[in-house]
Amino acid sequence: MKVWVLCIFFVAGTSICLGICRFPPSLWCSSTEIAEECQEKKDGSSWEFKCQHGEEECIGNIIETCTIYLTRNISVYFPFIHCIETTKGHIENATQKCASKFKGIDLDKIMGCSKSSLGNELEHQMALLTEALQPPHTYVPWVTLNGVHTDDIQDMAENDLVNLICQTYQGPKPAGCQKEENNLMHSCLRI
Ligand SMILES: *[C@@H]1O[C@H](CO)[C@@H](O)[C@H](O)[C@H]1NC(C)=O
Ligand SMILES: *[C@@H]1O[C@H](CO)[C@@H](O)[C@H](O)[C@H]1NC(C)=O
Repeated sequence: MKVWVLCIFFVAGTSICLGICRFPPSLWCSSTEIAEECQEKKDGSSWEFKCQHGEEECIGNIIETCTIYLTRNISVYFPFIHCIETTKGHIENATQKCASKFKGIDLDKIMGCSKSSLGNELEHQMALLTEALQPPHTYVPWVTLNGVHTDDIQDMAENDLVNLICQTYQGPKPAGCQKEENNLMHSCLRI
């Protein structure tokens, strides 16, 4: 049987690990060795997921995966997922609340997908993508920028995301980056 562990992130701080193994879920993403030993389990024709923070996290991740699949437009799905991630309460209630706030979100279709074999298969595809990360992830959240992960990228993404994006973006810098430059100048002047 093929064996892997999965950590997925959509929005900062959200992660799931899939696995059936001798380590507690809190450790599934703590090292490559443990990750290799932990498993995503196939039960009949569908995949059985276990999530680091429990069943509700699995439901949320599949809802978000289905949203990405169904809308296929980051301008539509990102604000919606951000809303879900920042809304307190049960995940299905948060999903419902957020769906009413955003255009282009079909709640029935998303919930239908999340409970179907399609949602299960999409989540499995996320596991494969996570497993294919180079270098392999050893913790969460595992940030990549244009497909690349380094300690510097990770540090900057966590501490100064706007500046990282402004430095990386090759086109004419938008207004938000001007502000960032000003901030940098001020901090230089103060030193
Ligand atoms: C994605 O959604 C945005 C916001 O609704 C819309 O303006 C844009 O045209 C869409 N992009 C595509 C490729 O459909
Ligand atoms: C979800 O919302 C309903 C209706 O507002 C409420 O009765 C229920 O307790 C909520 N469920 C959870 C788990 O928060």
